[in-house]
Amino acid sequence: MEEKVLQNYIAGKWVDAENRTSVFNPATGEEIAQVPLSEKIDVDEAVAAAKLAQKKWALVPAPQRAEILYRVGSLMKEKKEHLSRLLTMENGKVLEEARGEVQEGIDMAFYMAGEGRRLFGQTTPAELPDKFAMSERAPIGVVGIITPWNFPIAIATWKSFPAIVAGNAVVWKPATETPIMAYELANIFEEAGLPKGVINVVFGTGRTVGDAMVHHEDIRVISFTGSNEVGRNIAADCGRQLKKVSLEMGGKNAVIVMDDADLDLAVEGVVWSAFGTSGQRCTACSRVIVHEAVKEEFETRLLKTMKGLTIGDGLEEGIKVGPIINQAGLEKIERYIEIGKEEGAKLLAGGRVLTGNSYTKGYYFEPTLFTDATSSMRIAQEEIFGPVVSIIPVKSFAEAIEVNNGVTYGLSSSIFTQDVNRVFQAKRDLDTGIVYVNAGTTGAEIHLPFGGTKGTGNGHRDSGVQALDVFTEWKAVYVDYSGKLQRAQIDVEE
Ligand code: UN1
Repeated sequence: MEEKVLQNYIAGKWVDAENRTSVFNPATGEEIAQVPLSEKIDVDEAVAAAKLAQKKWALVPAPQRAEILYRVGSLMKEKKEHLSRLLTMENGKVLEEARGEVQEGIDMAFYMAGEGRRLFGQTTPAELPDKFAMSERAPIGVVGIITPWNFPIAIATWKSFPAIVAGNAVVWKPATETPIMAYELANIFEEAGLPKGVINVVFGTGRTVGDAMVHHEDIRVISFTGSNEVGRNIAADCGRQLKKVSLEMGGKNAVIVMDDADLDLAVEGVVWSAFGTSGQRCTACSRVIVHEAVKEEFETRLLKTMKGLTIGDGLEEGIKVGPIINQAGLEKIERYIEIGKEEGAKLLAGGRVLTGNSYTKGYYFEPTLFTDATSSMRIAQEEIFGPVVSIIPVKSFAEAIEVNNGVTYGLSSSIFTQDVNRVFQAKRDLDTGIVYVNAGTTGAEIHLPFGGTKGTGNGHRDSGVQALDVFTEWKAVYVDYSGKLQRAQIDVEE
């Protein structure tokens, strides 16, 4: 690929920042782009541009705003293969998954474009005669979105499309590891005719660009997906400023395999959700809670399927597991392998960085399986963000639910069982924002709310119609057509 020297996109212009850093293909170690390391001043410019643009944008009728999102969706569809290949190059996920992620963005464009003709408010009777009452969604102004490298285009669409259709302007800081998707999406917005300044892309670090966004008084909402530590700091900073903040900060997701489960199906579900995207999903399965009656058989079948996983450059045909994002990611996974061994979990497969031949220049880790883990172990509590899964044996359904819920996160969970009563009990008792039955822990669809309970977030949701709640204020409107002063609560007939 021709190397790209990327620029920020501010007020509809491509502008250089003073410093840059390199971006590498995690599969090959090859430098594929240079990305700006912007400063606070670049954020200030982007916010000023957004503020100016938003005033006009909010006055454009929502169905017309939506027309642009339809165009964005069509352009993404036209460019799906191009975008998918670039996504694999910068993120490492295998091409089939990259296509799935781009499709998620296309779906979001058409779905949110539809909202341009809905954006429903409510009408409700007023308590006084000749008086009308309603509530409607109003845009908030300039919103800041901060997106991660693991889903560089899908998550950006979950946040920017609802913000834009609702009449806000956006300042967007993409992850520095995966700037090409942001560059491509900004180009698509431009080609689709989005007015200048409605979206602005400022590349750079969280410490500088993210921090400047969080502290800028004209940014009224921050929507963040990333690590727990960073998210908590953002929430604290936003709290002091009374700034709305929406957080999604990962999970420690489990698949429960009950004694009556279809074991082959459960194995497929675990393999797909544990090792897809090399386990670098917020929704990745990293614990399997297995009923002791089927534990041995499940382990045997799982190990057999894991042996067939081909690891390599995701652009190559037949590869099932791609690389880890970078050296730091690899080292973090290695540390957890050591922790797991020290804690007394039994390593059944994997556990090593792959080296030699085509692996030398990229960052590859073997799909790894621990067993006989207990719920309190760190490998069963902390997010590893790699292809590592731990089996926790349990004796009953009640214990399975308890183990599932016994972590600080609450994003996704899953149960494999044929028992309809168990299904509904699990749906009720699993303390996560997303629950799957007879499927792995990944595979969220864009028209449903995405997010979780407890340490996963702060009660907000990405995607779905619920995303509109993050990017709008509710306005209550009363119209009195009686021609006289009517006092609520007082001039009401008793
Ligand atoms: C994430 O892991 O951060 O459900 C997003 C899924 C995808 C989105 C994952 N549709 O796994």
